[in-house]
Amino acid sequence: MQNGTLYGIGVGPGDPDLITLKAAKILQQVETVFAAASTKNSHSIAMEILSPHMNSDVPVVRLGFPMTRSKIELAHAWENNAHQVMEFLKQGRKAAFITLGDPMLYSTFGYMYRTIRNKAPDIPIEIVPGITSYQAGAAAAGEILAEAEESVAVISGALGAQNLKRIIHQTDNVVMLKVYRNYGKIMDMLDELGLMENATLISRCGLEDQEIIHDLRNRPDVPPPYLSLLLIRKNNRNG
Ligand SMILES: C[S@@+](CC[C@H](N)C(=O)[O-])C[C@H]1O[C@@H](n2cnc3c(N)ncnc32)[C@H](O)[C@@H]1O
Repeated sequence: MQNGTLYGIGVGPGDPDLITLKAAKILQQVETVFAAASTKNSHSIAMEILSPHMNSDVPVVRLGFPMTRSKIELAHAWENNAHQVMEFLKQGRKAAFITLGDPMLYSTFGYMYRTIRNKAPDIPIEIVPGITSYQAGAAAAGEILAEAEESVAVISGALGAQNLKRIIHQTDNVVMLKVYRNYGKIMDMLDELGLMENATLISRCGLEDQEIIHDLRNRPDVPPPYLSLLLIRKNNRNG
């Protein structure tokens, strides 16, 4: 039997209208949707984005993985998850694996993609890009990501502020995702670099309780929610 196709689908950052036409069409055709949401919260956001675009009788299977930093445990969980998806596809059925934002940017889809590619290279995989959180964030905040000859670096704050310190001298603009856990350290680093004024914090972009803070000298003293990102401009622009 011919293998079914796996569609790696980016569903955008939160607003159900920010899903692509292609993604919406594919969601109408698949027989199952797999979702690997690391938190209950991001899983339910993904569900809200999906519900206007697919039939309610299509099952959505949530793939679990442990909240651990142990690479061995995580690899084991991903093997099991990939196995479950491959078994489905081997029955000749089509499935989608959904990701918030874009599947090729800091996404659990990356692990699934690599594992299936290695174990079953014959399974067709099609990837449908999504609008990233930071594209939606820049639009919502009215912040230009880069212009003319400027550069923009996309980094993670998951391990603290060292990535920011390392990159800031080599780029004009920085997008920092995963800022919530080390928020205090990241704020201290922005302060040290004299960039508080040039930073914008965007939380829960596209959702009902979206929040945007320009100029972080005025920020409230509470850590932001998980879905939060920073846009940082190194120099002021003319005009
Ligand atoms: C695992 S990464 C996923 C990135 C995603 N694949 C993308 O294309 O944007 C999770 C991080 O993305 C950012 N993020 C995702 N959705 C967001 C939203 N609606 N508003 C603000 N930040 C968001 C946050 O920085 C969050 O910690």
